Amino acid sequence: MRRIPTAVLISGRGSNMQALLEAAQDTTYPAEITLVVSNRGDAKGLARAEEAGVQTAVLPHTDYPSREAHGAALHALLKERGNELICLAGFMRILGAEFVAKWEGRILNIHPSLLPKFPGLNTHTRAIEAGETEHGATVHFVTAELDAGPIIAQEAVSIQPDDTPDALAARVLEVEHRLYPQALRDVAEKRL
Ligand code: GRF
Repeated sequence: MRRIPTAVLISGRGSNMQALLEAAQDTTYPAEITLVVSNRGDAKGLARAEEAGVQTAVLPHTDYPSREAHGAALHALLKERGNELICLAGFMRILGAEFVAKWEGRILNIHPSLLPKFPGLNTHTRAIEAGETEHGATVHFVTAELDAGPIIAQEAVSIQPDDTPDALAARVLEVEHRLYPQALRDVAEKRL
């Protein structure tokens, strides 16, 4: 079985990246994580990836004059390393339309809400404040519109009357760590 060479893009702690790395340690998993890229040199996830023996690269967006220039450098790096799929995992940079068009159908993101509800930031606080009884996580294909591409997988958790954003975030994160490896598997096996 040919495993699909996949890059994971991060900006921070990288717990979803870790979940993907763990799933991909199984040699029968259809994707292989061959590269982790961060746009921030201080991302904690970089050390986790190195410990797992995965190649890492830092491509600070601040080194480039524009979003397009950063995207072009990222595209060149991923092509040079032979990546065919991209997983955004807490990557806190909006990718330009040009970059996204080049990777259409081959770039995934995980978002901590039941999209189309609550795109953007602070989703847990917003869900509680809106009086929602359910919240959750979504894996979707990335399009030029933020957090709005076709949904691949989604799982809900219930919101308790006394929930705090942190407690809710922790429960959603558990779901994320299960959902993302399954969604990447489905995409890599072309079951979608
Ligand atoms: C996750 O909640 C993910 O859904 C969101 O950013 C957070 C990243 O966490 N896009 P981690 O870096 O994977 O631990």
